[in-house]
Amino acid sequence: MAIGFCLLLLFPTPTVHLPLRSLVPEMPPLPTKRWESMAKGLVLGAVFTSFLLLLYSYAVPPLHAGLASTTPEDTAPCSPAPGASDADLTAANSSSEGCRPRRDIVFMKTHKTASSTLLNILFRFGQKHGLKFAFPSGRNDFDYPAYFARSLVQDYRPGACFNIICNHMRFRYQEVRGLVPPGAAFITVLRDPARLFESSFHYFGSVVPLTWKLSSRDKLAEFLQDPDRYYDPNGYNAHYLRNLLFFDLGYDSSLDPGSPRVEQHILEVESRFHLVLLQEYFDESLVLLKDLLCWELEDVLYFKLNARRDSPVPRLSGELYRRATAWNMLDTRLYRHFNASFWHRVEAFGRERMAHEVAALRRANERMRRICIDGGQAVDAAAIQDSAMQPWQPLGTKSILGYNLKKSIAQRHEQLCRRMLTPEIQYLMDLGANLWVTKLWKLIRDFLRW
Ligand SMILES: *[C@@H]1O[C@H](CO)[C@@H](O)[C@H](O)[C@H]1NC(C)=O
Ligand SMILES: *[C@@H]1O[C@H](CO)[C@@H](O)[C@H](O)[C@H]1NC(C)=O
Repeated sequence: MAIGFCLLLLFPTPTVHLPLRSLVPEMPPLPTKRWESMAKGLVLGAVFTSFLLLLYSYAVPPLHAGLASTTPEDTAPCSPAPGASDADLTAANSSSEGCRPRRDIVFMKTHKTASSTLLNILFRFGQKHGLKFAFPSGRNDFDYPAYFARSLVQDYRPGACFNIICNHMRFRYQEVRGLVPPGAAFITVLRDPARLFESSFHYFGSVVPLTWKLSSRDKLAEFLQDPDRYYDPNGYNAHYLRNLLFFDLGYDSSLDPGSPRVEQHILEVESRFHLVLLQEYFDESLVLLKDLLCWELEDVLYFKLNARRDSPVPRLSGELYRRATAWNMLDTRLYRHFNASFWHRVEAFGRERMAHEVAALRRANERMRRICIDGGQAVDAAAIQDSAMQPWQPLGTKSILGYNLKKSIAQRHEQLCRRMLTPEIQYLMDLGANLWVTKLWKLIRDFLRW
């Protein structure tokens, strides 16, 4: 840590002048200037890489801490006071009238799956009912990509119980299980793996070193022509570029698709999660969620958060789509399984009832959009006036859209509007999460204008 602070002290000195923009194409023709800016670029690159490594070493605890990061077997699991927790799953019967809203929820937040939108729903519900969140300590994920451990939870004590866990993590069932009462609902969300890969590639590609070799305009197409050339399974951040769902769910994302373990893992996910939502059928998913948790319509209203601006590069189609699907074969099998079971579930729920409820949800969202959003739609980061509404951006771009809250909103809607539009990081802070690493990182990025 001490080294970390020294390193950080180096940053804001005025001598570190950052001509980031001049590094890229329009370099001045004078050779000396050019060398100078290249040298500056190298120094900056080195400092930046050290910082990344530092953050990374913070994320992956050193060996001795690593051993301790699995909570010992005999550590007391969450032991709720009698009557304080939800009744059994069976008792929370949503088909009957007068069911009790469920308050204990584990949301395994997968990457690039509309999960930020769902997070907002959970934040709102937790805030409304004064529930206890298990937040990470210092940053907005549980030391991802390291496995989850109870000890990573802010203010964790053996025996402590939480209502909601929903930040990014690499899932480890036993550890999560021990933090919530027995009746907690486990949910997660999946997405068509080719689309997820596309999104992840654009969002995280720049932090996976081998992709720096890609030179054409359509880097994604180039990657998919010959993935093995640009992909090292053991490389830094490589998990973002293949079978990310499998990885997030805690499994080996480099398994041979023919291995019997693939099917075992899929069935394990099925046995542990009470509902697997699908990004493609998000509204249907929310209707099922509302039903499972016995919530009200207002609880599942949403605006699409953390969405990417339409890319100038066309979306994956045809041959590239097939390649992306094949490249992410484990996730594809996972998705197919849960896509099938999703529709069985809709069948059981009742097709007509589903259509009816989806329509009601859409009408209500539409109504909120008119009430809350200035201009009625998402805008570029540069057009967002209130910094509290500014979403987190991937490195090097400002491609994530955000919203402006309407200036005059009737008082009865104001709170809901504001909460529905608050981006994840700001909301986490409002709820009392301590995010010093994230904040520091943001400071540095603002400083570098990166
Ligand atoms: C839910 O309620 C219905 C009718 O009230 C009942 O038939 C059914 O067995 C209950 N389901 C569960 C899982 O308890
Ligand atoms: C999911 O299942 C539905 C219904 O069977 C099907 O129409 C759809 O194409 C599937 N989606 C994907 C991405 O496989």
